Amino acid sequence: MKKVGKEEKRRKDEDLFKVVDSTIDTRTYLNIIKISRRLNLKKIFGAISSGKEAKVYPAVTYDGSWVALKIYYVSTAQSKRAIEKYMFSDPRFEGAKATSSRKLLTLWARKEYGNLEQMYNNGVRVPRPIAVLENILAMEFIGEEGTRAPMLYELPEDEITADLYADVMLQIESMVTRAKLIHGDLSEYNVMVYQGKCYIIDVGQAVPITHENAEELLMRDLKNVSRFFESHGIEVRDPERVFYELWEEVKPGT
Ligand SMILES: Nc1ncnc2c1ncn2[C@@H]1O[C@H](COP(=O)(O)OP(=O)(O)OP(=O)(O)O)[C@@H](O)[C@H]1O
Ligand SMILES: [Mg+2]
Repeated sequence: MKKVGKEEKRRKDEDLFKVVDSTIDTRTYLNIIKISRRLNLKKIFGAISSGKEAKVYPAVTYDGSWVALKIYYVSTAQSKRAIEKYMFSDPRFEGAKATSSRKLLTLWARKEYGNLEQMYNNGVRVPRPIAVLENILAMEFIGEEGTRAPMLYELPEDEITADLYADVMLQIESMVTRAKLIHGDLSEYNVMVYQGKCYIIDVGQAVPITHENAEELLMRDLKNVSRFFESHGIEVRDPERVFYELWEEVKPGT
């Protein structure tokens, strides 16, 4: 393999940076460079989304494969509360202390990575987690050549089918009974559809089924999904029945 000289490396980093936007602080920028070297990234493109707490950027490696970088960049008072709430009673984060906003973002990115991993390893269709570095999470890119797949809410009417509904329900079932997690923010805004299959995304807030709010969160997720498909003329199962069946399976007798 050809050795990359210092000068050349610097030039490469500059190329990489050109396309990244200006909301990125110095430390995040350095982390972008670190993760880019680790993952062999050639180029990072403009953000495909700017949510409340994070932005998602497509990036391509020198081998031509695509990854999605989710960069957590602000810590609002609201996100701080949410992070603390969801971190609480999650045994995987017991003892974790956030002393600064930056630390909080790191914990949150790590939590999303951990949730993705737990889901992916248990057969839930989510983007494959690749790496996490402080506030940056790298995962499989869902889409084609840097163009993301549509979200469930963006689908044309004729692609909202009973099969797709069944596929989403199957993912929820695996999530609860195998990964033992509840998504907690599931709706048509956090499901992507690629090649006829659904991908569950945005799993940072997912909690173990033992969480004190697990039942309420699962019920809400199920109702959101039912409501969406029902409003598009799909025959859906009663969310309460589905809930009791799932709960019976994971927590018999309670
Ligand atoms: N792995 C991925 N591949 C392709 N696109 C993705 C991927 N993950 C997320 N996206 C896109 O980025 C958007 C934001 O992702 P996500 O929902 O995880 O972040 P968020 O911070 O919750 O943003 P929002 O507040 O807008 O929901 C998604 O709606 C989706 O369009
Ligand atoms: Mg989202």
